Amino acid sequence: MAITNQTHDTDFIIVGFSELPQLKSLLFGTFLLIYLGTLVGNLLIILVVFWNTSLHTPMYFFLSNLSLVDVTSTFVTFPKMLISLIREGSPISLVECILQLYCVLCMLATEFNLLTVMGYDRYIAICNPLRYTVIMSKSTCTKLAVSSWICGLLEPILHTVLLSGLSFCKSHHINHFFCDMTALLKLSCTKTNTIETVTYILGTFLVMGTFLLIVTSYVKILAAILKINSTEGRRKAFSTCASHLSVVVLFYAAILVMYMRPSTMYSQNQDKILSLLYIVITPLFNPIIYSMKNAEFKKALQRARFADRSNHK
Ligand SMILES: *[C@@H]1O[C@H](CO)[C@@H](O)[C@H](O)[C@H]1NC(C)=O
Repeated sequence: MAITNQTHDTDFIIVGFSELPQLKSLLFGTFLLIYLGTLVGNLLIILVVFWNTSLHTPMYFFLSNLSLVDVTSTFVTFPKMLISLIREGSPISLVECILQLYCVLCMLATEFNLLTVMGYDRYIAICNPLRYTVIMSKSTCTKLAVSSWICGLLEPILHTVLLSGLSFCKSHHINHFFCDMTALLKLSCTKTNTIETVTYILGTFLVMGTFLLIVTSYVKILAAILKINSTEGRRKAFSTCASHLSVVVLFYAAILVMYMRPSTMYSQNQDKILSLLYIVITPLFNPIIYSMKNAEFKKALQRARFADRSNHK
């Protein structure tokens, strides 16, 4: 009896979308397709970049890092979400829950960092083309990529630690499709002011900080592009930034919609649906944007297809 009580005390249920049983199969099918699309798209980017020496440039290395982030973050959230749809709620222990949240936050932070580094890379490529290969040397790129990951892994530690100190005695139903911070805080019976403040400050710092750095890069890029005399030259210079800029806009728009809406609009169900934007939609669209907008990448993909065909002959 004591044992069953205890497991009941520590286990949470991820509710997911199980309050919509009539849409169960539709949602399951849609999310499964999106998950497979995200996996295939991002793994394809990693492989194509890996196998094509013509894509062994800083921009594509960082892109492939970004794909690794997307693969990891969806791997952490999607399977549980799919299970919660089949079983109408998926059980998860407190430790697993906190780990899941930590991983999601790490991947988000790493994504912000990598997007910033990619903006810096575009800035050097356009504003300082002659010294590009010197400045963005192999070792600098490795340092930038490694520090994006390390900072990404460190940034969410504080709120995760604070979160694990809370006690949960209310309902154990997490009204979300993963262990989202806000959804978890709603279930806590300890005061959550400190952790909310810390999360808010760190979150704003990370989002605004990286955003300002990216904007700075683009202001300089724009100034340099406007100085180019020929339309063709301008178009060419801009096209090397177009995919990065689209991904940045998509990602920050998703985060803004999520966190900057007026507080009268807050409801748990809305939260849940809006977080689909950055958990589900952006990882799917990153590879789509890059493979559609990027001529070099398209060429590499075609070469890969031809190579594949000639292998089969
Ligand atoms: C991440 O970027 C670094 C530095 O450019 C590169 O060496 C590494 O291969 C990339 N990792 C992946 C998985 O693409």
